[in-house]
Amino acid sequence: MLSQLPPATYRDPNVLLGFESGDDAAIYRISDEIALVLTVDFFPPIVDDPFQYGQIAVANALSDVYAKGGRPVTALNIAAFPRSLPPSVLARVLEGGQSKASEAEVSIVGGHTVDDPEPKYGLAVTGLIRPGEEVTNSGARPGDVLVLTKAIGTGIITTAGKAGIADEAVLAGAVASMSALNRGASEAMLEVGVNAATDVTGFGLLGHLKTMLTASGVSASVSRGDVPVLRGAVELLKRGVAPGGTHRNLESLAEHVDWAEGVGELDRLLLCDAQTSGGLLISVPEERLEKLRSALIGRGCEFAAAIGIVGAGTPGSIFVEL
Ligand code: CO
Ligand code: CO
Repeated sequence: MLSQLPPATYRDPNVLLGFESGDDAAIYRISDEIALVLTVDFFPPIVDDPFQYGQIAVANALSDVYAKGGRPVTALNIAAFPRSLPPSVLARVLEGGQSKASEAEVSIVGGHTVDDPEPKYGLAVTGLIRPGEEVTNSGARPGDVLVLTKAIGTGIITTAGKAGIADEAVLAGAVASMSALNRGASEAMLEVGVNAATDVTGFGLLGHLKTMLTASGVSASVSRGDVPVLRGAVELLKRGVAPGGTHRNLESLAEHVDWAEGVGELDRLLLCDAQTSGGLLISVPEERLEKLRSALIGRGCEFAAAIGIVGAGTPGSIFVEL
């Protein structure tokens, strides 16, 4: 959608990062010491429980600030809600959001609600960062290792959840993963020093990787067996469950990805599964890999999985091995 945005005729020199590179958030310099990190994200309910939905929407919206290495400080609620639903349901969504924001030490300072047949909720977030410390998606270098901090499969599992065919424990696993903040991952990567990062959301693991590789002018190989996957996702895929977005992601990557023999259709779909509130995908110089992994684990990240290597091939191209 941003690709439809006309180019601005005015560019403030304090805009350090705009939308051109497909980065997760914009950065605006206030002084040499401080810059704002700006982002917005909202979406329709992904789970039935309104409190959990609120938590996930907030974790997801904050994630784009964390992906830059920023510290989110304030947020505005954005809510669309049908009049036909009892106000107590909206209250529960906002409560979930508030609880997650409090956990993140972010103040929700206002917001706006409109009447809409399909509910939607999310945040416009403001964060802080020291100019020059921001982690962009354009700094990946050949030889870097790619590290992923959450398992994938939330698109498949939540689709099954909506259809009422997901096992309760499987759904709970996905909800826990989606509600987890990327704060620890962000702090770990800032502490260690990394070359690039993005969070993994709607375009799936390979889609977001491709954007980072293109912006960085590099290629990558990814090892399917090293990618952490949420429990239950593969079984659901085998039963034919995958969201439309996941199929579209796979189609749109056709000319950018080469698959090793033996990487089957289900694995391809899985690696393109449209995520909500996924983990950070970090490109780290190899000599700092172990330091990053222990920093991630020390901060309670779900995973610190080395899933691939950055190369010097055709920019944006990905090779997937078993
Ligand atoms: Co993002
Ligand atoms: Co986003």
